[in-house]
Amino acid sequence: MKKRASNISQLKDRLIEFDTLPSTNEYCKKEQVNGKIVVAKKQTNGHGRMGRSFFSEDGGLYVSFCYELNDVLPEHLIPITGMCAVAVIRAIVTVCKISPSIKWTNDILLQNKKICGILAETVFSNDLSPEKLIIGIGINLNQAKKSFDGELKNIASSIYALTGKRTDKKELLKVLASEVDKAAKIAVSPQSECDLKNEYVKEYRKNCITLGKEIHILKQSLAPDGIDPKVAFSQNKELFPTAIAVDIDENFGLLVQNPDKTFETIVSGEVSVR
Ligand code: BTN
Repeated sequence: MKKRASNISQLKDRLIEFDTLPSTNEYCKKEQVNGKIVVAKKQTNGHGRMGRSFFSEDGGLYVSFCYELNDVLPEHLIPITGMCAVAVIRAIVTVCKISPSIKWTNDILLQNKKICGILAETVFSNDLSPEKLIIGIGINLNQAKKSFDGELKNIASSIYALTGKRTDKKELLKVLASEVDKAAKIAVSPQSECDLKNEYVKEYRKNCITLGKEIHILKQSLAPDGIDPKVAFSQNKELFPTAIAVDIDENFGLLVQNPDKTFETIVSGEVSVR
């Protein structure tokens, strides 16, 4: 990955801005935008992990950072989402002067409502080596409370709706770009490894509200026949196993203790805090 600093003028050179896009991540997948930062004022098909849609109306920050990868092993990219969660927390704390939390794996919450989601995606070449890293971040910033209605009302909100404070998007983007660049560079440089990565793991643990809680774990195999596991999970969590979230490992996996006292590490998927 090429080294890039993020002072204001370099940020300007890297920015590609749109009023509307289906999805900034999809744009990065299709276009040659390595090294660029793609921002849209709104998205018509913003999406997140597990095929979920991401509410992307005017007022939020919807941004994808696109990095060219050279000689990077797929396993080096495992921690990237966790490291970016820390990058987002740092940027929001610095610019918005509030202290959000992380819900494992990639949700940023304020007052128990989701204010940000992160979707890191890798594009592979024909020989299956990673060639492009796309880090998509959606932050609910200045939308009014009434924008989050229907089923969103209880799960998501914006920083403005929760605090009454408006955020300068450009200011947040500047700090965010510098933090995401730093996290991506550390993640893809195995030599810089341990200590620097550990700092991110420590900071993640400190901010992770999932730890210590009783959780339900979405295991695809436990959904009733013919029912989409995600739908089953959102409608009836009791069908899925419970466990206590104990720790975050060095790759941001979630170590849990099952009711039979055994331990296991969950590396992806979804948990729901009871
Ligand atoms: C999630 O909640 O699971 C992740 C949501 C990620 C949303 C961002 S908004 C910018 C970028 N474009 C997308 O379509 N998704 C990401």
